[in-house]
Amino acid sequence: MNLDALLDRLAAVEPTEQPFISLYVGTRPDNTGRAHWGPIVRKELAERARSFGERTLARGTYDADAGRILQWLESEPRPSAHGLALFACGAARIFEAVELNVPVETELVVGRGPHLYPLARLLDQGRRYAVAVTDTHQARIFVVALGGIRERKSVENAKLSRPAAGGWSQARYQRHIDKFHIDKFHREHAKELVETLHRIVREEGIERVLLAGDEVVIPLVREALPKMLAARVVEIGGLDLTSSEAEILTQTLEIERREDARDDAGRVAAARAGRLLAELQRVLDAAPPRHMVTPGGFRMSVAMSNCGAVGWVSDAGGYRYDAIDPDSGRPWPPMPASFLESAQRAAVEAGYRGFAPDACLISRYEPGARLTLHQDRDEEDFGQPIVSISLGLPALFLFGGLKRSEKAARVPLGHGDAVVWGGPARLRYHGVAALADGLHPLTGRFRFNLSFRRAV
Ligand code: SIN
Ligand code: FE2
Repeated sequence: MNLDALLDRLAAVEPTEQPFISLYVGTRPDNTGRAHWGPIVRKELAERARSFGERTLARGTYDADAGRILQWLESEPRPSAHGLALFACGAARIFEAVELNVPVETELVVGRGPHLYPLARLLDQGRRYAVAVTDTHQARIFVVALGGIRERKSVENAKLSRPAAGGWSQARYQRHIDKFHIDKFHREHAKELVETLHRIVREEGIERVLLAGDEVVIPLVREALPKMLAARVVEIGGLDLTSSEAEILTQTLEIERREDARDDAGRVAAARAGRLLAELQRVLDAAPPRHMVTPGGFRMSVAMSNCGAVGWVSDAGGYRYDAIDPDSGRPWPPMPASFLESAQRAAVEAGYRGFAPDACLISRYEPGARLTLHQDRDEEDFGQPIVSISLGLPALFLFGGLKRSEKAARVPLGHGDAVVWGGPARLRYHGVAALADGLHPLTGRFRFNLSFRRAV
C-alpha cells in the first residue's frame, strides 16, 4: 500500500455530516509475547458509540462503520504488522485499512473528517537532523537520528582559536589584530562552518539543521548560507558551546518534535491544496486575473480576480465590492464548496466559528510582484476574520501592527499554508514582499492567494 497516495486520497475527503472514524492500532506484542490490542479496540469503539443518541442517523452509520472495522480486524491483519490504520465513513464512501511496518500509538478519533497527522508522521519517520552550536571562533556539529547523537564534528578558526581554557587574551590580540581583521576572521569561520554543514546535509540527506549561536556569529552564518541550506535551517536559542551533549539532545529533540508537528500539518494542508488548485483553474477560466488600477492611477503588480457573491474591485473611482465582474459584465463565478470548506476549517482552527465569507479575492503573483502594507477595511463587518490561503510558490508575508509605521513581522508562507487574522488583529497592516523567482511543481512561476472575507 502506498501511504503517500492514501494520505492524498484521505486529505481530499470533504467533511461529512456523519461520524468519520479514524483508528490507529499499535499491534506489537508486549513482553509476554502476546498482543492485547483486540479487546482494547473493541472496548474503545463500543464506548464511543454511546456518545451518539440511540436510534439517530449518526449512531446508525457509526455502528455500521465500527462493525466493518471489527470484521476487518478479525480477518485481515498479518501478525507481523507493527501497526494498523483504518479510516471508515460509509456516508463519505470511505473504507481504508492498512498494515504498517512501524509501530503507532493506539488512538481512536471520531470527527467530521479523517484524522491524518499520525499518518503524515509515519511518512516522515527515520528523519535525521543536524545541530550546529557556534560562536565566532568555534563550532560543534551533531547529527541526531532515532533519538541519539550519531556523529560529532567540530570546526575551529585556526587563526583566532582561543586557548583551551579561559578566554583569549584581549591585550595580546588587540596589538596584532584590528577590528577589520577580527571581522574578517569571524566571516571566515562562519563560511567554514557553513561549508562543513553543507557537506554533511548533502551526504547524509539531512532535512533540518538547528542552529544556535551568539548575536555576532548568527548574522554572519545567515549571510553565508546557500539557498538550499537556508531553507533547512531553524535558528534556536538556549544552547551554546558550554552546553552538555545531554542538554543539546533534550533541547533539540523537543524543538524537532514541534517542527515535525508543523510539518505534518503542512503535509496534510498541501495534499488538500492540490484540490483547491483544480477548482481555481475553473474559476480563473471564467474570470481571468487582471491587473487592476489603484484610485491613484497605478497598475497593481499582482493580478486579481474573485469568486463568490461579490468581488473586490479597484479602479479610478476607488475600491469597492461588486456583484458584477467589470471585465465580463457577468456575476463573479460562485465560490467552490472546497474553497468555503477550507476557509471555514482554517477559521475554526484559529478559533473563529461561524465564518461565512461571501467574497474570495484571488491574487496571482509572478516573480517581482508585491503587495504594499495595507489594511483590509472595505468590508462592512470587521467582526469576521480574514482567512488567507497560499498556493504555489512560497512568499514572505508581512504582518504589521495597527499603525502603518509599526515594523512588520516577516512570515514565510508555503503551498497550502493559511493565515487567519481577526478580532483585535482584524485591521492589522499586512502585505507581501516581492515574490522571489522559482518553479513550483503545480503552479510554475506563480503564487496564488485566496483571501476570504465577509464583505457585505
Ligand atoms: C491580501 O492582502 O489580500 C493578500 C495577501 C496575500 O497574498 O498573502
Ligand atoms: Fe489584504
